[in-house]
Amino acid sequence: MTRVCFVCLGNICRSPTAASVMRHLVRARGMQDVIVIESAGTAAYHTGDPPDRRSVARARARGIVVEGCARQFLAEDFARFDYVLALDDSNYTHLAELRPRGSACELRLLLDFDPESPGGSSVPDPYYGDSHGFDHVLDLCERACQGLLDHIVRSAKG
Ligand code: 4NP
Repeated sequence: MTRVCFVCLGNICRSPTAASVMRHLVRARGMQDVIVIESAGTAAYHTGDPPDRRSVARARARGIVVEGCARQFLAEDFARFDYVLALDDSNYTHLAELRPRGSACELRLLLDFDPESPGGSSVPDPYYGDSHGFDHVLDLCERACQGLLDHIVRSAKG
């Protein structure tokens, strides 16, 4: 079993989108029983809220269902996951500070798995923008999640 958590700031736009894209790809590969996928936010502002309706609508146009309920990522969550994927560099810095010493969890920037993004890239926060920003988030998540899934499959075989 491989356990994966995507983490952004609010857990209502980018990380629920990444989690939904990943679930979609994992199901298409028939691996839904061996890869567990969750999402969370570094902040608690939106705890209990559903995903942003713009994320839901743009993903639905691609046949992807975005659902869930926002929650904050806590230090003890590092023990529950094999991979924690930060959506941007500020989330990464926050998570690196939260991560308990000696944790075996792999903390990475999600876009490190996108072959088309330069190293160290962030998924831009779409919250204050228009629908194009939400489509851009989906484009980035689709490429990076494909790369992440390939990496997980390769690592499990190795
Ligand atoms: P997310 O987007 O981190 O992709 O979920 C945001 C959602 C809410 C806020 C910021 C970013 N906010 O400031 O409320």
